[in-house]
Amino acid sequence: MNSIIETNQVTKEFVTKRGFLKRTTSTTRALDQVNVTINENEIFGLIGESGSGKTTLGLAILRLIDLNQGKINFFGENIYDLKKRQLFNFREKTQMIFQDPYSSLNPVVTIYKSVSTPLKVFHKEMSEEQVVDKVIQTLETVGLTPADQFLNKFPSQMSGGQRQRVGIARAVISDPDFIVADEPVSMLDVSLRADILNILINLKLKLNKSMMFISHDITVTQYVSDRIAVMHLGQIVEMGESGEIIKNPLHPYTKTLIDSIPVPDPNKKWNTDEIGGQISEYTNEGKNECSYANKCPFVKDVCRERRPDFKEVEKNHFVACVLYD
Ligand SMILES: Nc1ncnc2c1ncn2[C@@H]1O[C@H](COP(=O)(O)OP(=O)(O)OP(=O)(O)O)[C@@H](O)[C@H]1O
Ligand code: SF4
Ligand SMILES: [Mg+2]
Repeated sequence: MNSIIETNQVTKEFVTKRGFLKRTTSTTRALDQVNVTINENEIFGLIGESGSGKTTLGLAILRLIDLNQGKINFFGENIYDLKKRQLFNFREKTQMIFQDPYSSLNPVVTIYKSVSTPLKVFHKEMSEEQVVDKVIQTLETVGLTPADQFLNKFPSQMSGGQRQRVGIARAVISDPDFIVADEPVSMLDVSLRADILNILINLKLKLNKSMMFISHDITVTQYVSDRIAVMHLGQIVEMGESGEIIKNPLHPYTKTLIDSIPVPDPNKKWNTDEIGGQISEYTNEGKNECSYANKCPFVKDVCRERRPDFKEVEKNHFVACVLYD
């Protein structure tokens, strides 16, 4: 399998200034030596609680932020080395689908204008007629049919699900190879989610797209993803095939996430300690210890003395935890 994205020791710190005269600074290590490989024609799920660094990794892979350390290859080339022309091509070949279909579309711009903009930026050679045809074809791909009835609508005239379809259409119209979908269904009504997830799966199956699917909902992530990586305080703590991660989670943090999946059993007690979506109490300052040491029921001295190696403990199943040394 060929890789489309490879991150190598990617580290990103945010420095924030606080207090009187903004003299106090604090540093958050949002990404801490992240190594992931995303394959062509794969949906790679990234899960973790709020603040774990998921969006930051998505932005880094699209070169929408600068890094403190590390490199990210796209088809083997470090995207942080790309010069103007190559960067322009990279922008065409990578796109993002945002969480909020309400704020990601300009309310005073028609759907036609919104969806056609990437084409007009990246394919100036196309005639207006060709652009219209391509917009119609793309709206149909995302299930907005008959497409011509949507062209002159404004976002306010559409439902949340329809707006997210427009967001997807905007992302795919320039025929990107790789898409970051950042919590694309978390703001939608549950009844609309499956349709949007199926559109994303079809982008992979029918149009050969590769994708990083970010979510704090492990059930949704499992539904769309071929593999899943679990992130905690800026570090990838577990990675493997989706089914394997759900059936055989190894890292104590992943086990907690899986335990928090609701099952229809009135007698089951929920582990509400750390359901994805809650904000982590701890910020990562890049200490050389296990990122989960402060919460882990199995913590030992060694967990605070060094960061556990990220090891392949079963075929294609990686975990960073001393329990598997
Ligand atoms: N622009 C920024 N300035 C300062 N700190 C930031 C910035 N962006 C992110 N952070 C911090 O970096 C960490 C990771 O944030 P990030 O948004 O990547 O998390 P996330 O996993 O996407 O969370 P959520 O599930 O809430 O979207 C958090 O501690 C966050 O506060
Ligand atoms: S390395 Fe130690 S603290 Fe970290 S998850 Fe494993 S047992 Fe828990
Ligand atoms: Mg986020």
